[in-house]
Amino acid sequence: MERADKEVSVAAMKEYYKQFDPRSYLRYNYIPPRADFTRTDSIVLLCLNLTDPVIVFHAIGDVHGRTLIDIGSGPTIYQLLSACEHFSNIIMTDFLEVNRQEIRRWLHGEPDTFDWTAFLQHACELEGKGWPEKAKRLRTAIHDVIPIDVHSPNPLHPYSLPELADCLVSSFCLEAVSPDRTSFQKALTNLGTLLKPNGHFLMIGALDESYYQVADGVHIPVVPVDQEFVSATLKSCGYEICTFQCYTLPQDMKGILLLIGRSRRASSHNVRAPLWKTKHR
Ligand SMILES: C[S@@+](CC[C@H](N)C(=O)[O-])C[C@H]1O[C@@H](n2cnc3c(N)ncnc32)[C@H](O)[C@@H]1O
Repeated sequence: MERADKEVSVAAMKEYYKQFDPRSYLRYNYIPPRADFTRTDSIVLLCLNLTDPVIVFHAIGDVHGRTLIDIGSGPTIYQLLSACEHFSNIIMTDFLEVNRQEIRRWLHGEPDTFDWTAFLQHACELEGKGWPEKAKRLRTAIHDVIPIDVHSPNPLHPYSLPELADCLVSSFCLEAVSPDRTSFQKALTNLGTLLKPNGHFLMIGALDESYYQVADGVHIPVVPVDQEFVSATLKSCGYEICTFQCYTLPQDMKGILLLIGRSRRASSHNVRAPLWKTKHR
């Protein structure tokens, strides 16, 4: 009975995501007034600063490797602007084909895609590098954009990883796709199968939210999580916590968490030959 309820619940979340329109989501969340680069307490600046290597390295040392998987990428690339300097094989993932399509369009430099210039410029200011080259480096580092379902025990099915990831990144995904805390925990367990022992999991998420807005009048429920729950869940999934920081953005009335964990699980995943050969499909 409990199991049947849960399936309905996860299924209900998938129904909600049928309303997700990438263009509206980008317009609503990633341009002013919500994405305001002139405000020092704006959410976008915080997120870019959090993924900056200075902060990550300060917390856990020099994180680098070959393969990084971005979980629930959506139609956004900002979360990978620093990562592309440290990982040569980035795989982006999302549940929705419309989001994967939006990313591919940006990767192929098609006209009328979202303008990430302000984000590129800010990341480059943090790193002291030129921004047009940054876009090129990111496009080069991204090797694929594939489907994912974090609620599946084999989240990338039918794709098989040629090698486990050195690092997983996820921004505003797990709490926004899980109907309840149990599903959140299961999703985290499922994702653990993609990561090498000692690999890192970097997560940015919303604290204590019950919904988020995809566009005017379109809301998607979010499971409210707090530091205590996320930290206990991470530990129960076999991670050591390297850093866990919480921020409050008074103007947006939002709480944001940055968390970096290191996997202490022994490898049990059956890595098979790669199924994908082409870039970006
Ligand atoms: C709030 S958006 C976050 C997008 C992006 N990472 C960001 O920082 O803006 C949540 C994303 O999770 C994706 N998603 C929905 N259901 C999912 C599932 N079952 N497994 C993985 N991702 C899912 C959605 O399509 C959406 O792109």
